[in-house]
Amino acid sequence: MCGIVGYIGTKKACPILLAGLSRLEYRGYDSAGISTIEKNGLSLMKDKGRVKNLSNLDGIDNLEGTIGIAHTRWATHGKPSKENSHPHQDNSQTFSVVHNGIIENYNEIRKFLTDSGYNFYSQTDTEVIPNLIHFYFSKDTVNDELKFLRAVKNACLDLKGSFAIEVISKLYPENMIVVRQDSPLVIGTCENEKYLSSDIPAILSYTRDFYLLNDLEFVVLTKNSAKFYDINLKLIKKETQNIEWNASSAEKDGYDDFMLKEIYEQPIAIRETIGSKISMDNKCEFDELPFTKEYLKSLNRIYIVACGTAMHAGLSGKNAIEKLCKIPVEVDIASEFRYRNPIIDKKTLCIFISQSGETADTIAALKLSKEKGAKTLAISNVIGSSITREADYCIYTHAGPEIAVASTKAYTSQVLLINILAIYFAEILENCETKYLNKLKNDILALPKKIEETLKCNDTIKDFSKKIYQEKDVFFLGRGIDETVAREASLKLKEISYIHSDSYPAGELKHGPIALIENGITVISILTDNNLVKKTVSNIQEVITRGAKTLVITNQELDKNMFDIVIDIPETNCFISPILSVIPLQLLAYYISKEKGLDVDKPRNLAKSVTVE
Ligand code: M6R
Repeated sequence: MCGIVGYIGTKKACPILLAGLSRLEYRGYDSAGISTIEKNGLSLMKDKGRVKNLSNLDGIDNLEGTIGIAHTRWATHGKPSKENSHPHQDNSQTFSVVHNGIIENYNEIRKFLTDSGYNFYSQTDTEVIPNLIHFYFSKDTVNDELKFLRAVKNACLDLKGSFAIEVISKLYPENMIVVRQDSPLVIGTCENEKYLSSDIPAILSYTRDFYLLNDLEFVVLTKNSAKFYDINLKLIKKETQNIEWNASSAEKDGYDDFMLKEIYEQPIAIRETIGSKISMDNKCEFDELPFTKEYLKSLNRIYIVACGTAMHAGLSGKNAIEKLCKIPVEVDIASEFRYRNPIIDKKTLCIFISQSGETADTIAALKLSKEKGAKTLAISNVIGSSITREADYCIYTHAGPEIAVASTKAYTSQVLLINILAIYFAEILENCETKYLNKLKNDILALPKKIEETLKCNDTIKDFSKKIYQEKDVFFLGRGIDETVAREASLKLKEISYIHSDSYPAGELKHGPIALIENGITVISILTDNNLVKKTVSNIQEVITRGAKTLVITNQELDKNMFDIVIDIPETNCFISPILSVIPLQLLAYYISKEKGLDVDKPRNLAKSVTVE
C-alpha cells in the first residue's frame, strides 16, 4: 500500500529519495514525507498530496544529509493530512521512522505510552513505533554498539500486524536500521551505497544486486556494510540476489502512461512467460517443481486462491486443469478463503497467484493452507516476493515490472503460465492425447504474434471510447472461458474509469439483470468458444431487442450486421483465448479513463500492492 524508500551513501539523499518516491507513488499517493540526518539533527519535511507537493516545499533543496528515509502514503489510520504523513518521530525527535503496513495493537501501545508520559500528534498507528523505540532505548542502561538495534528489536516484538520500517537516529548518524514483517522491503547494494525500497523497480536504475529480507530479520546498514541479525540478535549470513529486470522496463519509454506501455508490452511479456517451458519435441519443463504422477493422481482437489485480476486468471486455470487433468479445481477469493474454513488436507494442492507476491490476504490464505497440510505453489511476477518465499514451490510469470495499478500484462502472463502448468500436469498424468496437447502448445507459441495482431484494434477502440465515456453503466457478457474475461474487463473498466459496470454469464441475464437493460445502454460481449457462440449470440439478441448498444469481441464467424461494433481478434485455442480477447477491453478501459481526464496509472482509492487486510 504505502511506499517507502531509503538511502545511505555518499551522495545527497534528498534527490534520490524524491526520485524513488515518484517511482513508488503508485503504491499510495495521498501524502509524502522525508527525513534525513543533517549536521544539526534530523530533518523532517512532509505534506498532504502527491510527491510533487513535497518536492516543492521550501527548504527541501537545502537538505545535505547523505542518509535519509522517505514515504508515500495510502491512508489507513487517520485521514490524509500533514500530521498523519510519515516520517513520524518520537517526542524527543531522536528517531525518525517510516512504516508500511498496519499495527493492529497500536491502541494498546498508544495507551501504554501515553500512561508513560508520551504525547501523540497524529491519528496514525505508526506514531507508536518511534516512541516505543525511544521508550526501550531510554530504559536500556547498556551503552554498547547494539543499543540502537536492541531498542528497535524490542519495539518490533511488541508490534502485532504487518510492518516494513526504516529507522534513523540523530544519535547514530552513520546508521539506518530496517526490518520487515509481512510487508515488502528490499535492499539494493553497490559500492559505498545502500538503496531501500518497497519494491525492486523503484531502485533498479542504481543496482541489480539486492538483499531480500525474511520476516523479523533486523538489518543495520552503513554506507558500506549490511549486517543481518535474527530475532535473538545473532548475526546471520545473507547473499545478494542479482535481478535481471532492466531499468528501462520501469520507465514510461515515451508512452503517456505505464498502463498503455504495459498493454503494448504483452507480446514480449508472453514470450518471456513461455521462456523455455515449451518446446514442441519435448514435454513441458518446470525444473523447479517436483510433482510426480502418484502425487497428482492422489489429489482430491486443487484450490486456486488469489485476489482481483489474479483471481480472474485463476478462473482460466480452473478451466484448463479440470479439462486437461480431470482434477476438480475450486477458485477462491483469498479474503474469503482464509475465513471460510476450507476443506484442506494432504491430498489438496493450493495454488496462489499474485503479481506482486505481497498481497496480505493471499499470503494469509497460503499460510493457512500450509498449516492444514496442503502443498502450496505460488505463481508470482516478483522474484523473492513474500509469497514466493512462503510457498513450498514457486514459478514466475517473468512479465517484467508492472507499475500501473490496473493489471494488464501480469494478467495475460498469469493466464498463460497456469495453462502451461495444466499441460505439464496433463503430461505427467498421461491422461490427455499428446496430439491434442501439442496443438495447444503450438497455439501458445503463436501467441506473441497474435497479440501484436490484436493490438491493431487500438484506433477503433479509441474511437469507441469517445462514444461511451460518459455512460453510467456498462455490462459485459460471456459464457465459459469468455465469462472469465467479462469479469476481468468489468473490473478494469470500473477501477480506472469509475464507470459502474457488471459482468454476467450471458445465460444468467434473463434471471434478473436483464431488468437493467434499457434503450442505449452499452453491452460488451466476448465470443471465442465455438461450442457456445450460438447461445451467446441469442443472449445478445435479447439485449439488442431492448435497445442496447453492442460491442462484440470475437474470433468466430458471425453475422456482423447484428452488432454496433465488432472487433475481430485472431483465432486461437479456447483455453488461451483470454490472452487475446482481453486486450481490446484493456484498451477500452484505458481510453475511457483518458477521455475522462483521469489519472490512469493511479486511480482514486487504489494502490498497486494491497499489503493490508
Ligand atoms: O499483486 P496481486 O496480483 O496479488 O494483486 C491482486 C489484486 O489486488 C490486483 O489484481 C488488483 O485487482 C488490480 N488492481 C487489478 O487491476
